[in-house]
Amino acid sequence: MNNQETEIQLIQITKKFGNFAAVQNVNLEIHHGEFFSLLGPSGCGKTTTLRMIAGLEEPTEGQICLAGEDVTYKPAHLRNVNTVFQDYALFPHMTVEENIYFPLKMKKVKYSSAQAMIEEALSLVNMTGFGKRYPQQLSGGQRQRIALARSLVNRPRALLLDEPLGALDFKLRIAMQKVLKDIQKNVDITFIYVTHDQTEAITMSDRICVMKDGLIHQIGTPDEIYNSPASTFVASFIGDMNFLEGQVVQKGENSVTIDVDGKPILSTRFEGTFSKGDSVVACIRPEKICLDKVCDSEFQNKFENHFQASIHRIVFRGTDYEITLKFGQSEIRLIESASEFNNKKIGDQLFIGFQKDDVITYLKECKKVCDYETNLDN
Ligand SMILES: Nc1ncnc2c1ncn2[C@@H]1O[C@H](COP(=O)(O)OP(=O)(O)O)[C@@H](O)[C@H]1O
Ligand SMILES: [Mg+2]
Repeated sequence: MNNQETEIQLIQITKKFGNFAAVQNVNLEIHHGEFFSLLGPSGCGKTTTLRMIAGLEEPTEGQICLAGEDVTYKPAHLRNVNTVFQDYALFPHMTVEENIYFPLKMKKVKYSSAQAMIEEALSLVNMTGFGKRYPQQLSGGQRQRIALARSLVNRPRALLLDEPLGALDFKLRIAMQKVLKDIQKNVDITFIYVTHDQTEAITMSDRICVMKDGLIHQIGTPDEIYNSPASTFVASFIGDMNFLEGQVVQKGENSVTIDVDGKPILSTRFEGTFSKGDSVVACIRPEKICLDKVCDSEFQNKFENHFQASIHRIVFRGTDYEITLKFGQSEIRLIESASEFNNKKIGDQLFIGFQKDDVITYLKECKKVCDYETNLDN
């Protein structure tokens, strides 16, 4: 289903409200049949981007194409896309069937010939038999499934979903994520999914576009976004990350050595170019770090980066422990499973080890990267 045919294209899109640019120079190419997510903190321009694709907002600059056709100034109802919002927007005085029939009615489809399509849409969202109920006789998750059925019944080329699961509680949200993915597999429709929830984006998407302050930071598969973040913002917004600040002490062709609180840290992956003396941030995922009582030759051979630190904090998280260690003024967090934990205590002096290939280094001065401490917008 996921061939590389372009479904939606945004070319140099900027949207200003007065002097304020909510979206800046956005270039996107979304493939037919793709599950594509727009991810970023609240206010980063996700909804504005989606509304421009839907035709509910006109860009200030740039061009939007749907299936190769320039639709930049085409009204919403003439575009073959539907939108699903967080608040369902079902008509309360209409039954489920009538709600689903509504978009077909707008297209002058007779009720008698619509019935099979309504039944199919109900079956698609696993709600067969609920047609005669009213929205208030349904749970939140059921209402959202009916809203989905209504937006799918006229088989749009693309479905735009703006935080559609935001109103549901945690367990229902997880269940609905699976329902949505299953539905998407069964219909030949491109999904554009807006969320501020990085876990949701990672688990559901074919590709993700990470945004902040109206700018795209990175577009990539969940694997690329998680394992090769393009900026410290992406590194901090997706998953958990240690940020170690230091200075470049040595620069080789394929590696860089950074002094972090007196410890030399070797990194083979970096964004941008640096020279000796530059202030940088070395990033390492907690799950890539190992802890040991001794620093024997095996440990040293396995981990190019190894040094002593003392346990500062222990947080029990059910299936594992998050352990924070201190060396100098710096802190580093790692995860240990309950079986590895073995009664460690605050103050224990241990050895931490991690590989040079797991350390990604970013220039600290770079405009895009100095915002990893302020990612608590949500
Ligand atoms: N109609 C509007 N008028 C003025 N500012 C707006 C309007 N719509 C959105 N904005 C602003 O544009 C920015 C992006 O908003 P939005 O696209 O809704 O973000 P998100 O969906 O990522 O939370 C925000 O700062 C918001 O306040
Ligand atoms: Mg929004």
